[in-house]
Amino acid sequence: MPDTRPAPAAAATTESQIAVHWREEEYFKPSPKFVAQANLTDPAVNERFAEKNFPECFNEYAEMLTWYERWQKTLDTSDPPFWKWFVGGKINASFNCVDRHLAKYKNKAAIITVPEPEDEDPVAVTYQELFVRVNEFAALLRDFAGLKAGDRVTIHMPMLAELPITMLACARLGVIHSVVFGGFSGEACGLRAADSGSRVLVYMDGYYRSGKLIDHKASAEIAVATAEKEGQKIDKVLVWRRYPGKYASAAPMVKGRDVFVDDVLKDYCGARVDPVPMDAEAPLFLMYTSGTTGKPKGCQHRTGGYMAYVTGTSKYIQDIHPEDTYWCMADIGWITGHSYIVYGPLALAATSVIYEGVPSYPDAGRVWRIAQRLDVNIFHTSPTAIRMLRKAGPDEPKKYHYHFKHMTTVGEPIEPEVWKWYYHEVGKDEAVIVDTWWQTENGGFLCSTKPAIDPMKPGSAGPGVPGIYPIIYDEKGEEVKAGSGKAGNICIRNPWPGIFQTIWGDRDRFVRQYYAKYNKDPKSKDWRDWPYFAADGAVLASDGYFRILGRVDDVINVAGHRLGTKELESACLTVPEVAEAAVVPVVDEIKGRVPEIYIALKPGYAPTKEITDRVIATLETMIGKIARPKRVHIVPDMPKTRSGKIMRRVLAAISNTLDTGDITTLANPDIVEQIRVAVQGKEKLKTQEGPEDLKQFGTVD
Ligand code: WT7
Repeated sequence: MPDTRPAPAAAATTESQIAVHWREEEYFKPSPKFVAQANLTDPAVNERFAEKNFPECFNEYAEMLTWYERWQKTLDTSDPPFWKWFVGGKINASFNCVDRHLAKYKNKAAIITVPEPEDEDPVAVTYQELFVRVNEFAALLRDFAGLKAGDRVTIHMPMLAELPITMLACARLGVIHSVVFGGFSGEACGLRAADSGSRVLVYMDGYYRSGKLIDHKASAEIAVATAEKEGQKIDKVLVWRRYPGKYASAAPMVKGRDVFVDDVLKDYCGARVDPVPMDAEAPLFLMYTSGTTGKPKGCQHRTGGYMAYVTGTSKYIQDIHPEDTYWCMADIGWITGHSYIVYGPLALAATSVIYEGVPSYPDAGRVWRIAQRLDVNIFHTSPTAIRMLRKAGPDEPKKYHYHFKHMTTVGEPIEPEVWKWYYHEVGKDEAVIVDTWWQTENGGFLCSTKPAIDPMKPGSAGPGVPGIYPIIYDEKGEEVKAGSGKAGNICIRNPWPGIFQTIWGDRDRFVRQYYAKYNKDPKSKDWRDWPYFAADGAVLASDGYFRILGRVDDVINVAGHRLGTKELESACLTVPEVAEAAVVPVVDEIKGRVPEIYIALKPGYAPTKEITDRVIATLETMIGKIARPKRVHIVPDMPKTRSGKIMRRVLAAISNTLDTGDITTLANPDIVEQIRVAVQGKEKLKTQEGPEDLKQFGTVD
């Protein structure tokens, strides 16, 4: 029976709580057709991964891989919270994603790249071709660049096949890769290269975005200079060319330092490099979190446990089979791309699609044309992208003949309104949806429904995935019970194989930031005393489903009442004309903070006072008078990061006349001044020193 009762109104809230006004949603069931073909249909999985079988339950995931030597111990807890997984095991990630599929699948596509220009055809790289290219590039890395196991390499590349080829070549040698999102600046790349101690950078000369061939190599100059300023010398910059033989950048090639990969590769034609059997605990890669403030954190992921976790969750939660054509629209420069474009899908011998460009280029039908042409059947993207697609072309999906069996949403809470559009329009009422909650630090999914077993509930991620035991604590460390209607801090009680090993070079920060808060005894060697603190607010319904409310510091304290920005935004989106909403706090003498709303409208609607009034009325009815905004601004577009996240920090700065800070990494920096003029007037007001919570708002690193 669906639980359709409204969540109980939160009683007087304390600092640790976020008031919860979400209405419970109806369940949706997977179709019998989906269930009939799914990898995981036996509910006994819950029993197999129950706490009494922990940690050995995770052997089931490790056994999906091919090992040189089997592990002796599943989990070693002797140095908490630095857990060790599959101790004594020897494995190579590149072998598992490439070589082991040759016998059965060598002529099957491993990767299909879709160039942004629509007159360039998609390119399929078979497993055999991937094998050849990974081997040859690994030979180049080893023999030309002098790299060996344990060295670090920083990779700053766009979404083309050469990026996973570079990663898999590193993994073949045991070289630790650190991929920096292609849309980041050269400076960001240089800082990360310096932090990781990389002396080799791998670049691409250029790539297409919104119809323009971007000069990407130019950013390498800045990266090298920045790294050197930080004390890290860069000896080599290896430059792939978007069109081999034709240099797409105006930046000079520095003699002795820069080389074209396609030139040097000629010397390694036919080379084969034996994969290096790595210790299960050897680091596979670093992934820097995309914080806009503070020093970037290099999340260090291990080889064995990470590979086991992404393979197991790709099989059970993404329902990937070797026959599937799987398209995750994330960028490989984020953890989602590492786990669920490259390592998970390829370990399962799937076909993984990589699209070079902008989803809405040249028009709102592009994504669906790609899905139709490649006959994609598993689709994976974020609420931001879904909102963007809905805004650009709400009726586009039905014009194209594609059929998804499975869709994923990840990265932020999805508003039920948007979920339903995804389900009905994009999924055509056929596809199952999983809302997967996790973080860069986690390696793979933490909460999600099991697609053929658990019903879906719009806006809720679901229960912990197999072997993950989440819990909600209040500020004092008391458990917040299911069905109480109260929110708190979601934590994971147990270690799991995908959890990162540490922050590169900063063990103290690792312990402080993720474990100190709820650690029961710093001397304890029992994992039960070391809950992992995720810094997200969440509420647990009586059906065991977690609803994620966003980062714990993304809240607005109105007269002592903590409002989750997400639920306000979700309410705004029920007004039919509204495509996107962002809520920020503004200083109010009486209430402390009050919300201020930014909205962008769907195409074809002009801003009117009538829409503004309806947004206010909706907030008052859905949340209460407490949520009445100071002002509602209708803007042409939101300031967004290159990965599509709305920069609430920038909007909060405009609303409060604070300094907007660094906006150079935005996808659309010009919009900031337009919004500023609309909100503050033409004349530039003198920026003020804001209170700490406003300066911190939306800047969680
Ligand atoms: C933060 C992690 C690894 C996924 C990509 C983002 C938010 C992530 C969900 C979801 C609600 C979500 C959380 C989390 N988040 N997935 N399904 N529902 N919120 O990785 O950049 O490390 O961000 O994204 O707030 O802490 P990330």
